[in-house]
Amino acid sequence: MGKQWKICVLPGDGIGPEITRQAVKVVKTIAEYYKIPLELEEALIGGAALEKEGISLPMSTLTRCRAADAILLGAVGDPRWDDQPLAMRPESGLYSLRAKMGMYVNLRPAVSYPILSDIAPLSKKGDFDLLVVRELSGGIYFGDKGVREDSNVRSAYDIESYSEKEIERIARFAFQMAEKRRKEVVSIDKANMMETSRLWREVVDQLASQFPEVSLRHIYADHASMELIRNPKQFDVILTSNLFGDLLSEEAAALTGSVGLASSASLGYTSNGIYEAAHGSAPKLAGMNKANPIGAILSVAMMLYHTYSMELASKAVQWAVMETLKHHRTADIATPQMETTGTEEMGDFVVRQLQEILPSVVLGGANTPKEE
Ligand code: IPM
Ligand code: MG
Repeated sequence: MGKQWKICVLPGDGIGPEITRQAVKVVKTIAEYYKIPLELEEALIGGAALEKEGISLPMSTLTRCRAADAILLGAVGDPRWDDQPLAMRPESGLYSLRAKMGMYVNLRPAVSYPILSDIAPLSKKGDFDLLVVRELSGGIYFGDKGVREDSNVRSAYDIESYSEKEIERIARFAFQMAEKRRKEVVSIDKANMMETSRLWREVVDQLASQFPEVSLRHIYADHASMELIRNPKQFDVILTSNLFGDLLSEEAAALTGSVGLASSASLGYTSNGIYEAAHGSAPKLAGMNKANPIGAILSVAMMLYHTYSMELASKAVQWAVMETLKHHRTADIATPQMETTGTEEMGDFVVRQLQEILPSVVLGGANTPKEE
């Protein structure tokens, strides 16, 4: 019997609760199969927390998250709070959680699915498999910001600042990921305009000498967003800042066919992680059983890999998703002629596939959870 799993579930807003429910079904299936005792706890974040407790990240949520091995998060964001100051918006709960948990890495894979070539916008450009490594706890999100008024003229500011240490640790993570992949890092910045980017380049260049097997290229962010569309298969690991990573990871997700497929892992110095679909809360779809749960489910695959070191179980979840996509699609990835499948049913199909696949996954070795 494996070590106990302790997972904190933060459903959040909009479609968050319904996609998270599907992710939880997958977690339960895996835990049951491997006979791992599972402790699941739910807590509030975002608009749901603002509504009940007047704060987007209640202390009780943070305490539960800190006590857990992994956090499964739905989505945050609700237009009802649009007019509020930043600190009173649902999003503040998410970026505070990431920062308070010390999560400085955000991994966002984007892979082409041959089975979805009929709807993927760039399927003719060949298969791609890239990983955005986004810096997550620094940069313009966390710099000084405010609004000031001088002689009746209002202005607003957001400061981007990065220390050498912040750049070095995210770059190191990116190089380490590249070592396990195609050994290519592309670092994306605006070194033609921004001091932070100039320091970024300098630090990344210096670090590169410690990874002689990994090739490094630097590309400006504007050019990179064009190259991503022109030729996505040229990218392996994309290393970039918090804001550029936010933009480029969503662009990369769209190339796969739908942002609904996009998963993510936020990591720090330990094996703990926050696992969430990389898309938003889609308030207009909330409660309609229409949202695509695959991004949330693939985030469970990332949890198995990064927190529990269960590479084969992680692969099994990915296979189950591929098999499911052969026969079932939510509305965002269906062609007009196709019958669409609802969120709950999609989750059930993945679970069924997983139950079929798991017995053929060999127990032991790399698949045994690491004992602390
Ligand atoms: C994301 C989101 C968040 C971000 C928001 C909700 C704070 O867009 O995870 O990409 O900007 O990081
Ligand atoms: Mg985003």
